[in-house]
Amino acid sequence: MPSDQSLLAVTCTAPVNIAVIKYWGKRDEELILPLNSSLSVTVHQDQLRTTTTAAISKDFTEDRVWLNGLEEDVGQPRLQACLREIRRLARKRTSTGDGDPPPPSLSDRVHVASVNNFPTAAGLASSAAGFACLAYTLARVYGVEDDLSEVARQGSGSACRSLYGGFVEWQMGQRADGKDSVARQVAPESHWPQLRVLILVVSAERKPTGSTVGMQTSVQTSALLKFRAEALVPARMVEMARCVRERDFPGFAELTMKDSNQFHATCLDTFPPISYLNDTSRRIVQLVHRFNAHHGQTKVAYTFDAGPNAVLFTLEDTMAEIVAVVRHAFPPEANGDKFLKGLPVTPVPVSDELKATLAMEPAPGGVQYVIATQVGPGPQVLNDPDAHLLGPDGLPKPRLAA
Ligand code: DP6
Repeated sequence: MPSDQSLLAVTCTAPVNIAVIKYWGKRDEELILPLNSSLSVTVHQDQLRTTTTAAISKDFTEDRVWLNGLEEDVGQPRLQACLREIRRLARKRTSTGDGDPPPPSLSDRVHVASVNNFPTAAGLASSAAGFACLAYTLARVYGVEDDLSEVARQGSGSACRSLYGGFVEWQMGQRADGKDSVARQVAPESHWPQLRVLILVVSAERKPTGSTVGMQTSVQTSALLKFRAEALVPARMVEMARCVRERDFPGFAELTMKDSNQFHATCLDTFPPISYLNDTSRRIVQLVHRFNAHHGQTKVAYTFDAGPNAVLFTLEDTMAEIVAVVRHAFPPEANGDKFLKGLPVTPVPVSDELKATLAMEPAPGGVQYVIATQVGPGPQVLNDPDAHLLGPDGLPKPRLAA
């Protein structure tokens, strides 16, 4: 067991992000460089977060990693890429200093434990929060102060956007070495306090094709993806940044829906085709359009990633009504009191007129539960030593919940 003094441990949390201009397709598989820029909203860590502890000690004999309490293969290429990058940055920092030899910690092995406070089985993208948290925590423990985009990005492309709070763009960059493929904050979390996010966890019928493999096939076969990346996304990035800057909800919402639809169109244009949406996802699309039509304005937007779960964006004043509408269309089969998690929402009735416009037969159980959340900050350091997921022996503490 390492003596207390020899163990240096840091614990941090990082958020999930939801892309409103989607990343799909790489121009470099090794470095994870995207075909196009993307833009996302960071969601609040009160509801969804990854917590990671990294500890270094001269007594450790190898790098080890635990995810949700289970030991992972540390040899996974993306894990290795993150570890290699952070050590390279740490070495650079020490060697550009005053000529001192690198601190001993650089050759020390690291132990990492990471947990999500949301069920991985729910199919929520956890890799972005996970790799952002890994990069951020390793940087703290190794004393690295550089931009961490390239570290997080090499774990999972979308992870670089989880390094910041608020509204974040991942600039695709032009360079072959990826140095200019970085995440930047477009606006902080305080910029648009009325914006709300609803995550609709849809019962998945089957395991979807993973993003990495899915986008590889799309790059190889979809002419639509190439056209989208080259001809459409650049202008969409500019327009989305404007919508965020000006808090133009209808503009933001429409472009979010169109970009999600276009991403799923490129999946269908992939050969063999990929379909991530299921019947419930398509009903949600219809529900949102009918809801907006009823109000004569765009009050809610949907977006879908590589699975059937929907993420809805709306403003504070529409939260209660859209939650009531979702509950009306997808009545909970059991545990109705647990249907809504996260931010509290006052129950309101759905008017007969709105029910008539929706014209939908209720589909019980289609949505398992809803997480109500909002825009949130970037990664955080937890200063409370009790927060460490690794004990003084460098092994995961028995209780592992975030
Ligand atoms: C549909 O970042 O998971 O969520 O870089 O291969 O790890 P890799 O892919 P990943 O892809 C995310 C795709 C998406 C859209 C997005 O988040 O922009």
